Amino acid sequence: MIKLPPSRSSLVALTAVASLLFAIPAMAQVDEDAAKLLFKQNECGKCHHPSQNKKGPSLKKTAKEYKGKANAEAEVMKHLITPKKVKLDDGSEEDHKIVDSKDQKALSNLAKWILSH
Ligand code: HEC
Repeated sequence: MIKLPPSRSSLVALTAVASLLFAIPAMAQVDEDAAKLLFKQNECGKCHHPSQNKKGPSLKKTAKEYKGKANAEAEVMKHLITPKKVKLDDGSEEDHKIVDSKDQKALSNLAKWILSH
């Protein structure tokens, strides 16, 4: 039997499928270290703990709240960059800190990380 080399078009198709398969996990991946650092640098941890409610809701609670929402990441990102007053448990109001970064990638990564809790 003669083995034919794969045709050019099937090679192209294979390459396309393979690169898609690699692209999907990369898109969903969170750079945890970068997110944690940004969170720490901006002192978000003063009020937000991964699993316990402090002055602000825990990251777990926030993630749960947004679970299943199609625009969750965009919504959380909005929170990260929009200054507003928040009510604390004791009834006092404080300006909500915003993330000191205009790097969309870093912000979206942080939003993803918050939602991953
Ligand atoms: C002074 C305490 C405090 C600090 C500091 C703080 N937050 Fe908050 N945050 C709150 C409170 C309280 C709420 C909930 C009140 C509300 O949603 O109106 C909140 C809400 C949020 C929400 C929305 C949660 C939801 O359910 O919609 C996000 C996201 C968030 N904070 C992220 C951050 C990030 C990121 C930082 C750091 C840049 C930060 N917070 C710093 C107190 C704080």
